[in-house]
Amino acid sequence: MSAAPPRSHPALAPLLEMVGTWEGEGSGDYPGISPFRYGERLVFAQVGRPFLTYAQRTWHPESGAPMHAESGYLRVVPETSPLRVELVVAQPTGLVEVDEGELRDGVLDLVSTAVAATSTATPVDRVRRRLWIENDVLHVTLAMAAGGVSETDHLYSRLHRVAAAN
Ligand code: HEM
Repeated sequence: MSAAPPRSHPALAPLLEMVGTWEGEGSGDYPGISPFRYGERLVFAQVGRPFLTYAQRTWHPESGAPMHAESGYLRVVPETSPLRVELVVAQPTGLVEVDEGELRDGVLDLVSTAVAATSTATPVDRVRRRLWIENDVLHVTLAMAAGGVSETDHLYSRLHRVAAAN
């Protein structure tokens, strides 16, 4: 039997700080809905290829009831500067997002190039996600254009590392 492959890929070096399990709280809003808060857990893990696996789940901060969840892959384009990054992510609301962007000055800035929706999903025209780490806090924002509303903030969460990188 062959040996297990190395768990890290050199192209991931600029994103290694993100690897691990993060937890915290967020808040959300959007025209036409009531503002809300949520608990969130994010896991970025590496498998030895130039991408991180990404899994997120959220819950109601008082009842603990499950809210949004999503999972996908954060891909880096090796030897690019600034580092080009791509995200593919699937959501149980019937959406699949393809985002592209770059890591610049410590901020990962991703904008959708496609958001596909199942026939029963609420369609979303465009998504922008930003992630950055400041003083050991992972900040995550999401803005979207949907339902005739132009790009407007939907989510902002602040997460602390609760488990080490793999
Ligand atoms: C932390 C993750 C998220 C949480 C906790 C969350 C939570 C919520 C909540 C509570 C609402 C109001 C629902 C209602 O009043 O019926 C909402 C609406 C909405 N969310 Fe999110 N959301 C999350 C992520 C996303 C993402 C990633 C997208 C799309 C890329 C998205 C798209 C929408 C849309 C389109 C609506 C309006 C739904 C409608 O009018 O039926 N959400 N979200």
